[in-house]
Amino acid sequence: MDIKKTIAQMTLQEKASLCSGLNFWYTQPIERLGVESVMLSDGPHGLRKQEESADHLGTNDSIKAVCFPAGCATAASFDRELMYQLGQELGDTCQHEKVSVALGPAVNVKRSPLCGRNFEYYSEDPYLAGEASASYINGVQSKNIGVSIKHFAANNQEHRRMSSDSRVDERTLREIYLLPFEIAVKKSDPWTVMCSYNQINGVFSSDNRELLTDILRKEWGFNGYVMTDWGAMNDRVEGIKAGLDLEMPASGGATDRMIVDAVKAGELDEALVDLAVERMLTINQRYLDNAKPDTVWDMEKQHEIARKMAAECMVLLKNDDGILPLSKTDQVALIGKFAKQPRYQGGGSSHINSFKVTSACDALAGHDNISYSEGYSIQEDVIDEVLLAEAENAARSAKVAVVFAGLPDVIESECYDRKHMSLPNNQVLLIERVAAANPNTVVVLYNGSPIEMPWLPRVKAVLEGYIGGQAVGGATVDVLFGDQNPCGRLPESFPIQLEDNPSFLSFGGEGDNAVYSEGVFVGYRYYDKKKMKVLFPFGFGLSYTNFEYSNLVVSSDSILDTDTITVTVDVKNTGHVAGKEVVQLYVADRESTVFRPIRELKGYEKVWLAPGETKNISFQLSKRSFAYWNVELHDWHVESGVFGIQIGRDSRNIVLEKDITVTSTTSVPKVFTRNSITMDIMQSPKALAALKPMLDGLSQMLSGDAEPKEPTEGAASNEMMQAMLGYLPLRSMASFAGGAISEQQLNDLIQAMNE
Ligand code: BGC
Repeated sequence: MDIKKTIAQMTLQEKASLCSGLNFWYTQPIERLGVESVMLSDGPHGLRKQEESADHLGTNDSIKAVCFPAGCATAASFDRELMYQLGQELGDTCQHEKVSVALGPAVNVKRSPLCGRNFEYYSEDPYLAGEASASYINGVQSKNIGVSIKHFAANNQEHRRMSSDSRVDERTLREIYLLPFEIAVKKSDPWTVMCSYNQINGVFSSDNRELLTDILRKEWGFNGYVMTDWGAMNDRVEGIKAGLDLEMPASGGATDRMIVDAVKAGELDEALVDLAVERMLTINQRYLDNAKPDTVWDMEKQHEIARKMAAECMVLLKNDDGILPLSKTDQVALIGKFAKQPRYQGGGSSHINSFKVTSACDALAGHDNISYSEGYSIQEDVIDEVLLAEAENAARSAKVAVVFAGLPDVIESECYDRKHMSLPNNQVLLIERVAAANPNTVVVLYNGSPIEMPWLPRVKAVLEGYIGGQAVGGATVDVLFGDQNPCGRLPESFPIQLEDNPSFLSFGGEGDNAVYSEGVFVGYRYYDKKKMKVLFPFGFGLSYTNFEYSNLVVSSDSILDTDTITVTVDVKNTGHVAGKEVVQLYVADRESTVFRPIRELKGYEKVWLAPGETKNISFQLSKRSFAYWNVELHDWHVESGVFGIQIGRDSRNIVLEKDITVTSTTSVPKVFTRNSITMDIMQSPKALAALKPMLDGLSQMLSGDAEPKEPTEGAASNEMMQAMLGYLPLRSMASFAGGAISEQQLNDLIQAMNE
């Protein structure tokens, strides 16, 4: 189809009609011009395609599909190939089901462990979230299915999600909340972007021109179409002007009329409507030209892939005395309802109608050495002494007790946030009682976000299974019994208690006012800076084998910020079983005039190593690896100085490091005013030269005479004098001069400084 020609044949009414959906899931067709309708469907970790009654909260049924591990889990894989494969599987599924765009990935940064949708989101680290989503998007789109990366932007809480205003300063927005989107747009060209419900600094995302046009398209080069989240449209006409192309779902024609009226009234340029239509039809056509409805969708095969993936995402948090892996012949008591009925997905729009679910009990069915007891109810958080006593007995009569705990659906879901960071009381008590009955207690967790673990010292092992998808039971068994060596790493810090989290004082906001007062210090950026104890740091995870690092080589120890350098390091598997290590590269700005985190993740690679094997891992670093967002330049900037290149096993365990010097090629232009202080003026040799005569005169005047005297008690010390002069603004210099410097002289001086 020649899209431009087709648009030229459309009436204004027809064009406007294309700017909102046909119904809940389909775009509008125009039959007389051969414009076809295409379907959009959730979601990030499986297909939620609704045939009949539609909704955006996962309440009505969708077709049977495969539920893969959710974002919280797949991010923990730190594995770009896994993300790509997940994308490919989803792409094939969409091709088979004639869905043009899969609504995801959801990449919002995890600001607080309380966000109800954390189970869908990737990480507290924007680089990891961006890299994971880029690989996933490349996977989906390799099948000629589009994605809709969401929710753009600063949508980090569910509380008042359709009205809240995320008040984020410019630097924080760029370095933390926009970065995952930026990486994804630049590395994987998503076909569409979904704007979020919330406002950002007082402007709704749906009509935020700075976000949707200036940053997304002009700066990052996005060339697909932008759709609203379901019901996120604020002002349709302003939306068109801002760069919002498609409103979803259908507006029943109401907003189409607004567009038509605005064009007729001369308030909206019709060319902008044409542009929105063109962008949308271009993407739709990309799908239609490449539709392959005969693509095979083998759900059983995908179930096995989902099992393998879930196992690769699990994070071994504790393993005292090497209690794991368990022996396949030991008496093992599986305790807790989640062993039979796992929490494997979250509530809301990503909810999949799984064609089958495998629990740990299912995966171990038929083994006489395995027992099961329920332990707690997931319907309500009540203490049931009968269930507890049964569990204690089972634990006593087994060699090892494995408690399956986690967050029931009702605690963690789209539309609302968690109220606390604890497990339900009945589960906490169960863990305590079982651990008292059997010292060999292992805890398996199914949750989408960190929890407090007051019971940690009393159990031997903890396996974080996250929200692992429909095959999570088999995957858990694979890891527990050693068929799979755990290789996930935490994509977020686990604070000891909720109050430790940097957003604790302001999360949720006052009314709609959600002030991101912690700034760039999100997650480990805060805990590391504060030298705070955490339960488990960002990037942490154990293995059944050991790894050793050596031979860190940085290709140059002194570079310009425009240079690219290569960093290599050797990693050896020194244990007896094969395993995967996640090699993490952090950059530490050693000296800076702006507040910066101690270190930030700038590279990671996952590597498989046979016992005894060594591999050389390589990273490339460039300007962005060292830069921060400069609010005067409104751009990324590197300050000249020393930077540490650190290889870590997690953000708290740096095993090798080397310092290099980076020299900036950009200077930050300074504008001097009456209020500029001496200390800042001294940074500019030219301005200082202009000021020098006045400064000398003033310093002589203030010290009385030129001869140094013995300091008398209470007299101004040198340090005090220096500080006094250093903080002195130009306007005060003039007034201290007691009339010797006229207003005109001061203005001439400022002008000379700025020349
Ligand atoms: C969610 C989106 C989802 C949409 C459609 C909204 O409630 O926020 O993530 O894609 O519904 O189901």
